[in-house]
Amino acid sequence: MARRRTAMLVALGLVALLLLPAAFSAPSLIYMPTDVPVNPVSFARGLTLDYYDELCPDVRDLVRAVVLDALGEDMSIAAGLLRIFFHDCFPQGCDASILLNGTGTPFGGEQQMPPNRGLQPKALQLIEEIRAKVHAVCGPTVSCADITSLATHDAVVASGGKPYYVPLGRMDSRRAAAWSYVYDLPHFTADISDVIATFRSRRYFDATDVVALSGAHSIGKAHCSTFTGGFRKEDSDFAEKLRRNCTNGGDDRMQYLDVNTPHVLDNVYYHNLKEGKGVLATDQLLNGDDRTKWLVDGFADDEWWFWNQFGTSMRKMGMLEGYFGNVGEVRHVSCSQRNPPASTA
Ligand code: HEM
Repeated sequence: MARRRTAMLVALGLVALLLLPAAFSAPSLIYMPTDVPVNPVSFARGLTLDYYDELCPDVRDLVRAVVLDALGEDMSIAAGLLRIFFHDCFPQGCDASILLNGTGTPFGGEQQMPPNRGLQPKALQLIEEIRAKVHAVCGPTVSCADITSLATHDAVVASGGKPYYVPLGRMDSRRAAAWSYVYDLPHFTADISDVIATFRSRRYFDATDVVALSGAHSIGKAHCSTFTGGFRKEDSDFAEKLRRNCTNGGDDRMQYLDVNTPHVLDNVYYHNLKEGKGVLATDQLLNGDDRTKWLVDGFADDEWWFWNQFGTSMRKMGMLEGYFGNVGEVRHVSCSQRNPPASTA
């Protein structure tokens, strides 16, 4: 009898041992993360430098002419284009999803989602103006995603930057990016490990890309209201100056991101960081972390290294495609509207 009870206890013990791992893993089955744990992006297939050679051979010149005209009137639009490009490409690839007028999310479209606050309306309008001009010459052959990539490149060069490769052939998506991907856009209160991890989640990016692409903050402005709380908090003359600029005036008050050469895309941004004059907290942190400081020093000392890396990182950014691949359509009616069902590509 005692032997049978011992045998039963041993058997029960074995069953319990077998079930133990399952018991611990159960919550991960129940609490499925809402963020899909896969890389949302990969490199777009089908992009080539000569994609429009037959369809619209002069597309690069057409885009450049409209961009230069617009920047001749208002140079600040260049920064607007550059930020729109980043905010379109990073969440689910460069598919012009950020341009879509939104329905279908609790916020509206991507533009209404909080990480996209402050995108420049003039830059959004310019993309639509370019589409209209390009389509007037070539018919509806060139995607809004390609127009955005080309316009951004031209804005970079017009701001003093160097040319980089822009292969073409992107499709415009028919859906907005999932909010969880949009919320992957780095926040100005993030610490440096978070920023690097967020870029790493895009598989092809690392700390070098983070530091090079942050050089985009060599032009443009931040709304004081956007980054209240993300301001430099320490007690320094510079931090005090920033606080004064931003507290004297209403919510529309702006602060240049590069306090020395705010209209020129150059490596002075990195010199600023070395002097403690980075405006966003995330900018200044790049100078205080071993993983990024050597790059800040390097880009400050060697402008050509910066240009080379900035171009490489921009090309990588421009080649991201979404989870569903480089699929979609060339928007016919407007960059902010999907095609009506009958004309879907
Ligand atoms: C590294 C993480 C980044 C953070 C935390 C960040 C955050 C911000 C914030 C808070 C603003 C001000 C927005 C406003 O108030 O209107 C801003 C502006 C800007 N950002 Fe970033 N950003 C980052 C990376 C990038 C990248 C990778 C690019 C482009 C390649 C970029 C391009 C710009 C530009 C050009 C502006 C100025 C926009 C304008 O003047 O209209 N940023 N960024």
